[in-house]
Amino acid sequence: MTRIALFGGIYNNYLALEAALADARRRGVDAVHCLGDMGAFGPHPDRVFPLLRDHGVLCIQGNYDNSVGNGLGDCQCGYTDPRDNYFARISYSYTFKNTSAVNRDWLRDLPAQRRLLLGRYRVLLCHGSPRRTNEFLWESATSSAFLNYLCDTHQIDVICTTHTGIKWHRPLDNDRHFINVGVLGRPENDGTTNVWYAILSAEPNLTVEFVPVHYDFQRLAAEMREEKLPEEFVETIETGWWTTCLEILPGKERRRGRM
Ligand SMILES: [Fe+2]
Repeated sequence: MTRIALFGGIYNNYLALEAALADARRRGVDAVHCLGDMGAFGPHPDRVFPLLRDHGVLCIQGNYDNSVGNGLGDCQCGYTDPRDNYFARISYSYTFKNTSAVNRDWLRDLPAQRRLLLGRYRVLLCHGSPRRTNEFLWESATSSAFLNYLCDTHQIDVICTTHTGIKWHRPLDNDRHFINVGVLGRPENDGTTNVWYAILSAEPNLTVEFVPVHYDFQRLAAEMREEKLPEEFVETIETGWWTTCLEILPGKERRRGRM
């Protein structure tokens, strides 16, 4: 295996998932992986699962999936601000209520991490970080020394994560890499409506390509309104700017946004 597609949090955005699957197929990847958080934010949670299964997407469990699968009381998203937690509760209770028992069982049984070999690289797929599912590793707040330490500890050359909602890639010592693959669920707080996924190639050296995904965001927004999801969420889908989850952003990432 030398070329794989990596999807981050889907957040119920089945329209972006559909577009990303078609795009990845066109580009001829050997496999498609999803790093977890199938639910949250968007409408109609159960529409994501048939797409994942029909296209053979290999999934690991995010904090959201662990919560929904085990019937926990909250999403374990790791927010600290009361406003962020207020909105997190709304999307969690909507997602939980609208995820079928069969799909909840499927989420419960997903593995927390996955190891694979891509060319000569030992790759670890995880959700937040190798040590904690809901850890936020931001580009501006994470030292290379720490990432090298994680590679050493886990005996791995490439660490791939999602969870924060913002993609980044940093080459490390000895041809090792850290990659946050971004998310399919919502835009990246940059004023554009597209979302992102990543393609990793080892032919033979590792390259990382972040791929923009354009999808029918107006249809998603209309369905979110029909489902009476918060207008703050719909605004993010329509404008590309975050209106929630801003408190957890470090200053550098926050300054790139509008708020
Ligand atoms: Fe997450």
